[in-house]
Amino acid sequence: MLCSRRGCLYSAAAIAPLMKILVIGSGGREHALAWKLRQSPHAERIFCAPGNAGTAEIGENVAIPASDLEALVGFAKENCVDLTLVGPDDPLAAGIVDLFAAEKLRAFGPTKLAARIEASKVFAKELMRAQKIPTAEASIFSESSEALRYCERAKFPVVIKADGLALGKGVIVAADAATARSAIDEMMNQRRFGDAGRRIVIEELLRGTECSLHALVDGNNYLLLESARDHKRALDGDQGPNTGGMGAFSPANNWNGKLQAQFETEIMRPLLHGLLQEGTKFRGLLYPGLMITSEGPRVLEFNCRFGDPETQALLPRMKSDLLPLLESTIDGKINTCAVEWDTRAAVTVVLASAGYPGKYETGKPISGLNDAAKQDVQIFHAGTKCANGKIRTAGGRVLAVTALGSTIKEARERAYEAVSGIQFENCQYRRDIALNAVAANIEKSS
Ligand code: AMP
Ligand code: GLY
Repeated sequence: MLCSRRGCLYSAAAIAPLMKILVIGSGGREHALAWKLRQSPHAERIFCAPGNAGTAEIGENVAIPASDLEALVGFAKENCVDLTLVGPDDPLAAGIVDLFAAEKLRAFGPTKLAARIEASKVFAKELMRAQKIPTAEASIFSESSEALRYCERAKFPVVIKADGLALGKGVIVAADAATARSAIDEMMNQRRFGDAGRRIVIEELLRGTECSLHALVDGNNYLLLESARDHKRALDGDQGPNTGGMGAFSPANNWNGKLQAQFETEIMRPLLHGLLQEGTKFRGLLYPGLMITSEGPRVLEFNCRFGDPETQALLPRMKSDLLPLLESTIDGKINTCAVEWDTRAAVTVVLASAGYPGKYETGKPISGLNDAAKQDVQIFHAGTKCANGKIRTAGGRVLAVTALGSTIKEARERAYEAVSGIQFENCQYRRDIALNAVAANIEKSS
């Protein structure tokens, strides 16, 4: 089918009254993005590729995996998609936005070159060094023999990172030389993460509390979203392996105006300057993961897309229409925008299949979804599938339950009450999402 509309490029000021939108991905983040876009008066049809059982309820799922870039371009062309929003990092790192641009299709997200800020930890580290952006002291290795030699004189613990994308598993905290040696061997010699481990970064372990900041970046300008905190470890008390994220809350209780001023001066502005200096325009969502240390914020990593599950905590608090914000980012006009926020807090609890982030079973029927969703409680689907009218588990992270409340405590109680009404076999979730924040608030007020 031929696109009857005059090209796909137009400015946000002339935002099309009714748009066809394609969301790429199948996680809780993508359900939250599609859910938020569904509320826009400008959204006509929403497609999700490949989507999940939740996105099927608010849009149309398209059976194309996020990795099949050519098929996604073909679908967008054939269906006159006005805007494509790319959820995960892999298609961005593979250059999906460049492919769309070559076909004069609008896509939200950085180009392949700009996506290196997440896809190559070596690139990010070198850029931070050049711009004097505060981050962990690090050494970069492309030979395992040199990395192993470094371990003989290193001060432990150290953090060992594969250069490339590794499904969130490419970061190892090594308490001693033996752990470091085996991580280096796995990454560089056995190539556990393929080419992602061709080079590695070994850096100092930073101590403090983490915070996620999301920014809409239009090349030259940025607009910060509210702060959020992720819970990366699988088990309560920050035990167990790192996961994609087991829960989040917003606003982050360890964030304040002073830190934000420092963050903007020392991190955001030098970063954009550095990217422009080396000829890379970043357009899309940039989300630095920070460690708030006693000396101020330090960058742990840069992500070039919305966080998961931070997005599920942020978007229910966003009162503004997301669609014009995405459009203005693409058009280089984010400096003309502002975001209105619900002042209430949001807490998101992720329900996962037992065994995640390792091996887990799927196909388990899920019950209680309809009763759990109520005012100020939103259920976002991740690894779910609907077959014969029955929703079943289909992935590691299965659902994200977000509740709003006038305090973090209230939001947390609401979220866990909703969680208790949802059942599937081998359901695993953390009981302590936002618990420290509640405790810290109680301390502050006493
Ligand atoms: P990254 O993919 O670099 O963000 O690493 C994933 C997670 O590993 C971070 O969110 C932190 O929890 C942890 N991490 C990474 N780098 C460091 C570091 N230098 N010090 C302490 N923790 C780290
Ligand atoms: N929440 C961590 C991430 O999205 O990478």
